[in-house]
Amino acid sequence: MKVLNFGSLNYDHVYEVDHFVLPGETMSSLSYMRGFGGKGLNQSIALKKAGLDVYHAGRVGYDGQDFIDYLNKYGVKTDYLLKDEKNAGGHARIEVCRGENRIVLYGGANQLIDEKQVDDVLEHFEEGDVLLLQNEISSMSYIIRKARELGMYIAFNTAPMNELVFSYPLDLIDLFIVNETEGRGLSECDSEKIEDIILALKEKYADKEVVMTVGKDGSYYIGKDMVVYQKAYPVTAVDTTAAGDTFTGFFLASYLKDKDVKKALDLAAKASSITVQGKGAADSIPEMKDLL
Ligand code: RIB
Repeated sequence: MKVLNFGSLNYDHVYEVDHFVLPGETMSSLSYMRGFGGKGLNQSIALKKAGLDVYHAGRVGYDGQDFIDYLNKYGVKTDYLLKDEKNAGGHARIEVCRGENRIVLYGGANQLIDEKQVDDVLEHFEEGDVLLLQNEISSMSYIIRKARELGMYIAFNTAPMNELVFSYPLDLIDLFIVNETEGRGLSECDSEKIEDIILALKEKYADKEVVMTVGKDGSYYIGKDMVVYQKAYPVTAVDTTAAGDTFTGFFLASYLKDKDVKKALDLAAKASSITVQGKGAADSIPEMKDLL
């Protein structure tokens, strides 16, 4: 079984602020750092740190050699990562205030992935292989359809949730990984109550698996015939960026290896509780040894 993560790579420009910038306001930040991010890259790093071999496919810009070096440093395979010599790569502008963040994305090369690139990547995969996706690259519907034709198992983290998600062939997805807001969006349930969202997800995606994180209130696995709850590990958050990516990577790595939902949720909860105690995205994702 080979695992492919087809996803975004962003330079993250992170500004620590004492309040989020207001309309019309110009303000100075308390600190600045540039780091590696993108939900795709973060999740590949998390998968690998959780002990799973992963190929990362995607598209960096002419300024993107650093991403390839960074992924390789951690052992993520970059054979199918394309460097676009004409266009700039993606970046994110992130304000962080007392642990919370606000993110503005510029897709760049992430949004230039076309059907040819998808074909060139997927020809190396086959039935029984696994595909992980997030919602930060182009050609999503095409990737999902081709992967299904091949017989790959498809996991989709619907972040960032937007109207495009509903244009994808969601019936071809095997596993959704969402946070509370995304779960509400995906199930089209307006209720504030977690139990209502779980019921709505169960009803709408009856033949799917769904993992939903609910911040300090823990996480849930909603399967065909069972719901499993996992508590969160309470910590003081410095920066929540990449917490969801860490959860996704650690959950999937453990779940694919042991097929033990409870163990996978627990590991993912532990790992993301460490991520939120560090600054930045990929750099704050822990190693397995940090969880013991
Ligand atoms: O999930 C966090 C990530 O979202 C950041 O690294 C940023 O690049 C955006 O993609």
